[in-house]
Amino acid sequence: MKKILVTGGAGFLGSHLCERLVDKGMEVLCVDNFYTGSKSNISGLIGRQNFELMRHDVTFPLYVEVDEIFNLACPASPVHYQYDPVQTTKTSVHGAINMLGLAKRLNAKILQASTSEVYGDPEIHPQPESYWGKVNPIGIRSCYDEGKRCAETLFFDYWRQHNLEIKVVRIFNTYGPRMHPNDGRVVSNFIVQALQGQDITIYGDGSQTRSFCYVDDLVEAMLRVMDTPKEFTGPVNIGNPTEFTMLELCEKILKKTASKSKVVFKPLPEDDPKQRRPDITIAQQALKWKPSVTLDDGLDLTVNYFKKILKL
Ligand SMILES: NC(=O)c1ccc[n+]([C@@H]2O[C@H](COP(=O)([O-])OP(=O)(O)OC[C@H]3O[C@@H](n4cnc5c(N)ncnc54)[C@H](O)[C@@H]3O)[C@@H](O)[C@H]2O)c1
Repeated sequence: MKKILVTGGAGFLGSHLCERLVDKGMEVLCVDNFYTGSKSNISGLIGRQNFELMRHDVTFPLYVEVDEIFNLACPASPVHYQYDPVQTTKTSVHGAINMLGLAKRLNAKILQASTSEVYGDPEIHPQPESYWGKVNPIGIRSCYDEGKRCAETLFFDYWRQHNLEIKVVRIFNTYGPRMHPNDGRVVSNFIVQALQGQDITIYGDGSQTRSFCYVDDLVEAMLRVMDTPKEFTGPVNIGNPTEFTMLELCEKILKKTASKSKVVFKPLPEDDPKQRRPDITIAQQALKWKPSVTLDDGLDLTVNYFKKILKL
């Protein structure tokens, strides 16, 4: 049985990934400092024979024995990563150094959960992996964007310098059950506000677009990336290329929740990208993967989750 380390395993994406790996019969070691993750995300796994939980901060070295590492530890929503920006950069950069060092010692395969934020506010649309991005190095989002860019650099240097087997996945907006209700991300924001009858806040005029990938599709892609041959390092974009404006998303959610919430418009936050859509040609070809869950189906599952946790 393969031993697999998932850092950030008690978070939104990490908990779904741990679940899939445990169900596949892998021995899973979930490492998390519970900065944004929670035990409730993995409550269904605690007690399973092939699942182990360890409280640990990845900015410190970790000595364990595993065959593969999925490095997901890092707060992902602007509210959380801007709360303690220095810690965010440390988590990305020191976390990457520590996990790469571990992978080198064990000669283990390692996958980095990178992000579409490495493209910044892009001048090219949709974004292919070959695009280098337009990122502000000194803005309020830089702790996350530049931290993740530096982590990618480290991954590719460990690959060139130490011949380590690396996989870099650039994740675009992903949503689904176990998103944090107060993380300020647009899908969870709109759903929580609609369910609680609060005003729905749209930043800007609502014409900015995003593409949303359902969590199960993302996890399937990450597993396929880990199983690619050694030559396949990525970076590879994973996301759903179907684009929606914020107004369209809001209308869908208002309808699904039968909400009477009012829509209010607020100024766009600093450095907010105006559009984002992945070019997934590489994923389609190399992984034989494309998203299969429609926004309508994914939103139904997510709305049901929030109804349950908000006890509505
Ligand atoms: N969800 C998305 O749409 C999205 C998009 C792009 C990239 N990503 C990346 O995927 C990964 C997971 O994102 P998520 O949405 O599940 O976010 P999340 O905040 O729910 O999960 C992150 C997890 O990492 C843990 N963590 C944070 N700092 C840590 C540290 N120093 N040591 C150990 N654990 C730490 C948190 O407690 C949490 O459990 C992140 O690396 C994120 O950058 C996510």
